[in-house]
Parts: sequence; structure tokens; C-alpha cells
Amino acid sequence: MNLSLQSEAAAWQTAFAGPLLRWYDQNARVLPWRSSPTPYHVWVSEIMLQQTRVEPAKPYYERFLQELPTVQALAAAEPDRLRKLWEGLGYYSRVRNMQRAAQKICEEFGGEFPRSFPQMLSLPGIGEYTAGAILSIAFSLPVPAVDGNVLRVLSRAALYREDIASPQAKKEIGALIARFIPEDRPGDFNQALMDLGATVCRPNAAPLCGECPVRESCGALREGCAGDLPVKAPKKARRIEERTVLLVLSEKGVLLHRRPPEGLLAGLWEFPSLSGRQSASGVGAHFPPGTRLSSLASARHVFSHIEWQMTGFLARARSAPLPSEDWRWADGRALREEYAVPSAFKVYLRLASALLQAEEGG
Ligand code: ADE
Repeated sequence: MNLSLQSEAAAWQTAFAGPLLRWYDQNARVLPWRSSPTPYHVWVSEIMLQQTRVEPAKPYYERFLQELPTVQALAAAEPDRLRKLWEGLGYYSRVRNMQRAAQKICEEFGGEFPRSFPQMLSLPGIGEYTAGAILSIAFSLPVPAVDGNVLRVLSRAALYREDIASPQAKKEIGALIARFIPEDRPGDFNQALMDLGATVCRPNAAPLCGECPVRESCGALREGCAGDLPVKAPKKARRIEERTVLLVLSEKGVLLHRRPPEGLLAGLWEFPSLSGRQSASGVGAHFPPGTRLSSLASARHVFSHIEWQMTGFLARARSAPLPSEDWRWADGRALREEYAVPSAFKVYLRLASALLQAEEGG
């Protein structure tokens, strides 16, 4: 049967939803948040999966739930603990919003997740996708959850040729799904689409059409253009920022600085840095005469709108009194266990840990 955006809901149910769910029954990925899909579990997993892929998300998920097993525990958590639990996932404002949402759930919804779409959207950090995922997976409500995987699968199946980065595309694909999402298994259906998109109708790799449960109704396969869909307009170029990262080591450890409470990587700990690509003499001007400096590896970190291009220097210094609470000396244990350093600095974090371990062990 040929499917398109205009096809009847009944045709989509028979030719698409049916075979997809039968495939899911045999091929669903075993994921920790699927064994007990409470709204809290689904929420935590979905926010993590907006930051990273399924495999690296698993240990973060287990650790987060072990430490903060309920929405009440999340509402009451120490912000520094939250930062540490999120360290490496990036985009810390997501977990800050989760805590605000948890507090709102406790204060305004009696500690229970709301079950309506508008109330769900009133929670900080919960947009249409996350609301759809929680409502369908945890509450079995027939609501679409349209992420990149779902856009890819349906743009191919329905031969949808508009730019999928546009808000219009999400709306149109969501409206299509809303017409035929199975009432009895909406959460399974949404997750089946995600699994199909991740493993068969793949991102950044040729689709495995021979293994696809909906190949007989796929418009793109029929027309031989699966590789050309989805259509995605090129993104605007990122702004490049050059920085010179300083690992300042003293007998008390490595020097850390807390970033400002608002903006990029708000409140996280970083190695101090100078703007621009500095020479050894440029760096030396910030230290007492005679300070030993050696240059370190370069690194790059890509954020959504900015790219940091970093060079680094190691400076051996004597510990001096620090100007405020936003500056600390961290020994190896504190660096590992207490301070949340964003993954943008991971090259230098590894170096600092290795240097501290060598010095403390020796
Ligand atoms: N990606 C985002 N959410 C997911 C889920 N619930 N299952 C599989 N992949 C996902």
C-alpha cells in the first residue's frame, strides 16, 4: 500500500503502525528506563537522551536514580550534587530546569506529574517532545513525541520533502501521527519509531531498508530516494572563540574557577583561561617572573552556537590566597568527586587528573 501525508488514518494503521508494533515486540531495545516507565523515570531518561546517545546515557541514568529516586528528592537536591550527576552530559541548564520543574510538581501538583499536555508544557524545560514522550510512555495517552528519529522515519515513509528543521515540519508530522497513533499502545508506538530510527532508518548512515518492517509502504523506498530524505536546510556557521586554558598546579592541587551563575555553562567549575590564542610570553605576563610554563595539547569543543578552539599551558605555581569563594585549589580526589567540570574541558581535565595522581602518588 502506498502511504503519503494525505493517506487515510486507517491506511496508516494497517500498513504502518501494525507492522511497526509487531517488529517492536521482537526487536525493542532493552533499556533501563523501559522496565519501570514511571513519569519520573521517563522524564529523566528523555532529558538525558536529549544530551547524549542511548549507550552513554545508561550509567548516568542509573547513578541519577540511585541518588535521586523520586521527584521529591530531585526537588530537594543540592545544586552542586546535581551538577556533579550531570557532569559530562553538557548543557547543565537542562538539569537546573529539571529541578525547577520538580519543585513546581511538588508545590503545585501535589508531587504527582500532571496528565495534561498544557500543564506538562507549563513545567520548566518540558517542551512538546518531552511532554509527548511522558504522556504516551508513562500515562498511555495517544500523544505524538516527534524527535529527529521520528522526523527521519516519517519523512521517508510519507515522502515528506519539506525542511525538517522547520517548526512547520514538526507540526505536520506530529499531526499525521496524531491521526493514527494506536490508542492501546501509544508509548510503544512512539518508542518503536525511535528504535526504528536509531537502528534501521539510521542517522548518518545508509538506511537498512531490507530489514525494515514498513518497507512495503515506504514512499522513499518506492521512489528510490531514501538517501535524499529527510531534507535539512544547512545550519548557520558557529561563532569561533579562541581561548588559552591554564592548568595552574601548586602543592594544593589545580586551580579552579566557578563560572558566573548565568549564561553558558553557568555555575560549573573550569580551569581559568585567557581569551585568544596566547603565546608563552603572553601567558607568562600573568604569573610571577620565573614561573615554569609548558605548552599543552590543543582541543576543540562544539556547542550549539559557538565553537571553542583551545590551546593550553601548564604553570607550576606556589599556592597563593585566592580572591573569592569562586576560586579553589582542588586535589585529585576533589577534582574527581566534588567539582563539576564541563566536558568542554575534558582534554585538560584528564591531563590535570593524571598530573595530580602522579604528584600525589609520588
Ligand atoms: N530516544 C529518546 N527517547 C527514547 C526512548 N524512549 N527510547 C529509545 N530511544 C529514545
